[in-house]
Amino acid sequence: MTGNPSASLRPRKRLLTGLQPSGQLHIGNYFGALKPFLDTYKEYESFLMVVDYHALTTLRDPQALRANLIDAVRSYLAVGIDPKEATLFQQSKVSQHTELAWVFECLVTVPFLMQAHAYKDKVAKGLEPNAGLFNYPMLMAADILLYDTDIVPVGQDQRQHIEYAREAAAKFNNAFGQTFTEPAEKISDEIAVIPGTDGKKMSKSYGNTIPLFGSRDEIAKAVMSIVTDSDSAVPQNVYAIHRLIRSEAELAPLYKEHEGKYKALKEALIEDLDAYLLPMRERYNAITEADVKAVLEDGSARAREIAETKMKDVRAKLGVAL
Ligand code: ADP
Ligand code: TRP
Repeated sequence: MTGNPSASLRPRKRLLTGLQPSGQLHIGNYFGALKPFLDTYKEYESFLMVVDYHALTTLRDPQALRANLIDAVRSYLAVGIDPKEATLFQQSKVSQHTELAWVFECLVTVPFLMQAHAYKDKVAKGLEPNAGLFNYPMLMAADILLYDTDIVPVGQDQRQHIEYAREAAAKFNNAFGQTFTEPAEKISDEIAVIPGTDGKKMSKSYGNTIPLFGSRDEIAKAVMSIVTDSDSAVPQNVYAIHRLIRSEAELAPLYKEHEGKYKALKEALIEDLDAYLLPMRERYNAITEADVKAVLEDGSARAREIAETKMKDVRAKLGVAL
């Protein structure tokens, strides 16, 4: 990839998203976020970034950060993201992100940043209100705006952060001339919430997950713990997970045959889940740390080239390029 053609010259729209390196993925992450991404990312010029410097706002454990970073990339490769089709990169390897964040921080006010729901929620939960956490939306704005991003796929909770990015773009453009594209969020409201083993939303913070790359035994243990205190012949929590990997028509005879027999239905689910997840698990286990590093080196170099082209323009407009 060379240079940074203007948006109108690009054959495909640009899509960018940031992934928190936050530990073991579960099937809720897969069916709720990764699979929808896999189904569409090739329609765009896609950028996938592991946001290690964002993680630093809440994590101060070098070993954990390093392990999570490697695990995140290994996971995305294992589910089938092709690093030749998307630029998969590491945020901290492209120092233009933190550089541009500073510029934006000088353009927005403290009262404006104080309105951020994500910041308020995190502080309410007891996280330290460090200045990085407070300025988080401006680093995220830089992540997005450096690449003239058109579309940002994110969860509902990130909507306001995309508004902040648009505001940062508008502030800069007004002060220094047209430079940044205002991005649009892509929020997949229609994607159902995947239930966990207790029937509530599957989430790593609730301890109710089925691990995406877990062994057959781990899958079996999680499935056997699915809560089945429904009165109906069909155990709803088992069926909801089964439906993710099998059609209604396929499941109808199975659930009829084993009506009310929760153990047999769970065993069938273990069988099906294991067969479905096995190829991803095998890829995951085969990907080495060296593979991860090579992908990140390559992707980060590509990202850096685009980011530096943008920053040259920014520095010239700011008056710091002598
Ligand atoms: P967790 O709740 O386990 O901490 P995250 O908040 O890190 O998960 O979510 C990462 C991505 O996976 C987000 O895009 C989120 O919408 C999606 N996701 C997580 N859990 C589920 C679920 N139970 N159903 C659907 N999507 C989910
Ligand atoms: N804030 C996002 C989250 O918590 C992660 C993120 C950082 C991001 N930079 C981004 C998402 C840029 C999209 C685009 O999920």
